[in-house]
Amino acid sequence: MNYETILVTRRGPTAVVALNRPDKLNAMSMVLKAELVRALHDLDADPETRTIILTGAGDKAFTAGADIHEFHGRTAIEQWRMYEHGTLYDAVDRTTKPILAMINGYCFGGGLELAMACDIRIASERATLGQTEINIGIIPGGGASQRLPRLVGMGNALRLTLTGERIDAAEAARLGLVDEVVPHARLEPRTFEMAEKIGSKSALAVRLAKAAVRGSSRLPLDQGLRYEQSLFALAMASDDKEEGVRAFLEKRDPAWKDR
Ligand code: COA
Repeated sequence: MNYETILVTRRGPTAVVALNRPDKLNAMSMVLKAELVRALHDLDADPETRTIILTGAGDKAFTAGADIHEFHGRTAIEQWRMYEHGTLYDAVDRTTKPILAMINGYCFGGGLELAMACDIRIASERATLGQTEINIGIIPGGGASQRLPRLVGMGNALRLTLTGERIDAAEAARLGLVDEVVPHARLEPRTFEMAEKIGSKSALAVRLAKAAVRGSSRLPLDQGLRYEQSLFALAMASDDKEEGVRAFLEKRDPAWKDR
């Protein structure tokens, strides 16, 4: 598939999707967002792909957020219409395969919202993050008001959203905004290592586990626990459960069928 503003490559079962406007710090234009939605949809359906890494091309930015040039003159009706068809962030949320955000540099505004919609965030120690919309007189529109407090707590979410200040990767890790910080040279190897480890598990079990854990952010506790039980029962009925248990008892590696 050919794209204008993103780059999709793969290493074995790991697909890498790079936002590819490095001269604009990978700012997310409407075209880029639409291409990302398409790529995620295709990779989620692709049987060869087990995990997806999202990153930014070049050595400066994951993404500096939404393309500010496109905000100029946009009306409320136009903005509303854009939401009617679902957003990039909804598309990330819908993806059943694990998505790792490999945060290689600037990660601001909609870029941070994109990273927060992913499953796991690994940052270079060179990365800088911020919920910076307030600096241009708007507020986050890609999910930060809901995802940020869930990750960092209400006070920190309000501090970041109301001040628009930028924080370094170490502080982001301390707050729980990113899950790991590594030296810049280790970013790619470490992210691939994690993607490959997840990719070596039963894809069915990974999918069910992801659905169960992500369910915790939208379901009340009692419903979330019931949801987990339903998914656990599904896992118990899988070929991979039989294989995983047999492999353990026979002291060998399992050969997953992903069903
Ligand atoms: N939208 C559109 N273009 C952007 C952009 C964005 N969010 N962020 C950066 N760019 C463009 C700049 O306009 C510039 O393009 P030009 O060379 O054609 O003028 C290019 O990317 C490089 O940016 P520049 O500002 O020169 O780089 P810098 O290293 O001095 O500063 C930032 C980097 C990220 C601190 C700064 O670009 C910035 O604050 N960007 C906006 C971040 C933001 O608030 N995002 C949230 C939007 S809601």
